[in-house]
Amino acid sequence: MSYRTHTCGALTGGDAGATVTLAGWAARVRDLGGVIFLDLRDKYGKTQIVADKDSTAAEALREVGNEFVVQVKGIVRPRREGMVNSKMSTGEIEVVAETITILSPCLPLPLGVEDEEEPNEELRLRYRYLDLRRPRMQRNLELRNKALISVRAFNGEEGFVEIETPFLIRSTPEGARDYLVPSRIHHGHCYALPQSPQLYKQSLMVGGLDKYCQIARCFRDEDLRKDRQPEFTQIDLEMSFVDEEDVIQHVEKMMVRLVKDTLGKHLEANFPRIPFHESIAHYGSDAPDLRYGLLIKRVDAVFHHAGFKAFDDVINAGGGVYAIRAVGKGSLSRKQRDDLETLARGEGLAGLLSAPVEEGFKLGGVLGKTLNTEQEADLIARLDAETGDMLLLAAGDGEKVLISLGKVRRKLAEQWNLITPGDLKFCWVPEPPLFEKLPDGSGLTPCHHAFTAPIPEHEERMESDPINVTARAYDLVLNGVEMGSGSIRIHHPALQERLFKVIGLDREQAYQRFGFILEALSFGAPPHGGIALGFDRLVMMLAEENSIRDVIAFPKTNAATSLMDGSPSTVDDEQLAELGLKRLKQ
Ligand code: AMO
Repeated sequence: MSYRTHTCGALTGGDAGATVTLAGWAARVRDLGGVIFLDLRDKYGKTQIVADKDSTAAEALREVGNEFVVQVKGIVRPRREGMVNSKMSTGEIEVVAETITILSPCLPLPLGVEDEEEPNEELRLRYRYLDLRRPRMQRNLELRNKALISVRAFNGEEGFVEIETPFLIRSTPEGARDYLVPSRIHHGHCYALPQSPQLYKQSLMVGGLDKYCQIARCFRDEDLRKDRQPEFTQIDLEMSFVDEEDVIQHVEKMMVRLVKDTLGKHLEANFPRIPFHESIAHYGSDAPDLRYGLLIKRVDAVFHHAGFKAFDDVINAGGGVYAIRAVGKGSLSRKQRDDLETLARGEGLAGLLSAPVEEGFKLGGVLGKTLNTEQEADLIARLDAETGDMLLLAAGDGEKVLISLGKVRRKLAEQWNLITPGDLKFCWVPEPPLFEKLPDGSGLTPCHHAFTAPIPEHEERMESDPINVTARAYDLVLNGVEMGSGSIRIHHPALQERLFKVIGLDREQAYQRFGFILEALSFGAPPHGGIALGFDRLVMMLAEENSIRDVIAFPKTNAATSLMDGSPSTVDDEQLAELGLKRLKQ
């Protein structure tokens, strides 16, 4: 016999008179004296169960506590006039219980399972199976599944083949630290868990597979935050005989389809493209948020003969002066302007000068007293500002000020509610540099990864002027968050070896670490390129959540622990011995 004839979200007025069996969780039991009500809940909805006080069902119901799993057999009847609940799919009916069977009792709950209560995250992760009962989490996981189906269907229709690549691989770090798995058979040797399938998907292109995709799990031992987990999922793609445009077009179509399939919304393709340097210059970030204005503009020229000492010193030291136009914020009070300055200092700026734009192209504040009429009008014109706006200015060393202003920009947009909920603003950030300096200044490292090709015009200067070489790479950004990164790859071993050399790996070291890919490239590698999109991040955005933990069934904490299963955990000495390992300290 099956446990149920219907789910808890299925019955309507049309079922009146039917004998049904339902099974689910006791969301709420209300003993009103004459009758007892039970709200029976499952994934599909809630059904109101009613038992007369003297019935055997009522007797059984009195034993039912919160979140008990129960089975109810009864007859569907329409609710009385005035008792119909139009907000519930089952709001027209109730089930008069004949028998109630407790399938599974429940201890007192450590956290609420309704959306209204937001338990603290530690509790949610410790008792994740209870947290997952909350409608919000159910919705998020449903959405994730829809997204998965959409992406797979689309790539399949476009001729992509989904291929699983191994989890136990050779350690080939891509920027983060590897998770290592010691080998039992080969003591002293380790597999690594893949940071991404990068070299395998390139090998598939050499293997002639032409169009690869995979919903791929990746593992990275790095500092965690709201949009970073130690294990996460990518939509991983690679294509042969393509250039940047082919990859971009494919991804745009995939995103349009994804947004349609998950949210039912129409998204325009042809996402704006904001080259890397432009993005830093105007958004103070390589992940620009296009949902609001507050663009940054460089305005040194206005101050060249203005005699504004603070800015002169910066300009003479090779720095710049940057300004943001805050539309309609000209009337901020002294206190609000001071608060802005405090916020700016918190983001690393030396200060933030504010100047209200007044009638007749005039400025208020200190700048109004310092600049002459022409200079005032010049500054206002450069920012396309109007009366009633506020100009915010900061000066200092180029990139640093821009990055700080980028953070200020983000905070102001939040504070001033400039973001329309539900807005999805995609853009591409192409043409980043191929290399960046290592934080300790000891050399260069690839900005994307070591298999990214330089633009052909810059190939020659890879050794002589590496820092100014542009990469054939592109990031996909959504609402100011990096969703994906990809590039056209190097497909000649000689160029690949040259790149390794620039980042400090001589031929021998390069072959030792990356021999198999260098070898593969020498057996007729097609030109190829691809991208990987952070699937968790995409779902987080579609679900309008702030953390990828809310769209992952069993995430880790920021300290990389699982509060539910208690991993990582210690293991027995015997287990270690089998792997040829010995504990150094207890
Ligand atoms: P990259 O390292 O930029 O590129 O990763 C691609 C995308 O994966 C997501 N992502 C993460 N999501 C959650 N937690 C993490 N720890 C995490 N790290 C990255 C981001 C990011 O944009 N092999 C290359 C891609 C390629 O060149 O084709 C790669 O992995 O959304």
